Amino acid sequence: MRTIEMIGNVVKLIDQRKLPRVFEIVECRDYRAVEHAIKDMTIRGAPAIGAAAAFGLALAALESKATTRDDFLRDLDAAEKILRATRPTAVNLMWALDRVMNATRAINLDANGLRDFVVAEAQRIAEEDVAINSAMAKNGAALINDGDTILHHCNTGPLATVDVGTALGCIIEAHRQGKQVHVMVDETRPRLQGARLTAWELMQYGVPMTLIADNAAGHYLRAGKIQKCFVGSDRVAANGDVANKIGTYKVAVVAHENGVPFYAVMPTSTIDMNLPHGDLIPIEERDAREVTHIEGVAIAPEGVRVGNPAFDVTPNKYITALVTERGVVRPPFGENLLSIMK
Ligand code: MRU
Repeated sequence: MRTIEMIGNVVKLIDQRKLPRVFEIVECRDYRAVEHAIKDMTIRGAPAIGAAAAFGLALAALESKATTRDDFLRDLDAAEKILRATRPTAVNLMWALDRVMNATRAINLDANGLRDFVVAEAQRIAEEDVAINSAMAKNGAALINDGDTILHHCNTGPLATVDVGTALGCIIEAHRQGKQVHVMVDETRPRLQGARLTAWELMQYGVPMTLIADNAAGHYLRAGKIQKCFVGSDRVAANGDVANKIGTYKVAVVAHENGVPFYAVMPTSTIDMNLPHGDLIPIEERDAREVTHIEGVAIAPEGVRVGNPAFDVTPNKYITALVTERGVVRPPFGENLLSIMK
């Protein structure tokens, strides 16, 4: 099944907190359940939470008892504010909410008409995500050579999107095309998206891989064992600075130092042309328990002070190219992003 889908008045999602030990589907029947699923990372990954937010609005539309257009829009506005506050960094969330809200406000329908419209628009966002990721996968796979060993950080596979994936989608596509690829999978502390989700997905697709501790990436890069780095992104600023899972910056700097190309893969909905540079990207700070505990077991002394930024920003000078559904963008990123986003 897809990472997320809406059937009737139920939004179904794969529970990403429990993988790979248990494959379980969570059913959300109201938008507050979607709010919690995004916050506690039952669903995660930038495009996936964009689709989740849109489906959250669809549930809010179905929940609304409003009979007038104005009352309906008021109900939808209230839900939109709550969904917007779930996670701050991945701009796909805000992008999807803006798209549904703007389209709904612009269309001249009564409350019932708007209700159907919101559900249909959310379904369109999910469908388009799959098509966009498929295009991106082809664009990215063209950059991968037969025999490449590729370093990957976090999880950017089908689970991080509605389906197909971003960076991992490119790697899976290259494998599907018959290229011999090997993936070095960063475990990605603190939540272990690499060890739990990426390793599981690659094994399902039969893509050869090696799981490594995050701290081992530099060793392999310096030893010349890695030909390319592929990562996703949660938000790209107008100058090409890339926010992605914490640890990405360190990988990019070491890759640059060792002359290894570093590619970031994202749909154009991840590109935030309103932010001139990456220092303006809001960085989510998550619960200390993600660092002090693994699977509920304490690994640090009680009461220790913890810093837990969920993302970091990689300055554009470390990035070889950005891969989007519209093509591969190379430096100068400011100029070239402007033309691709037109
Ligand atoms: O905190 P997460 O698991 O939602 O973070 C996910 C990432 O950082 C991914 O690399 C990113 O969303 C881009 S690929 C879908």
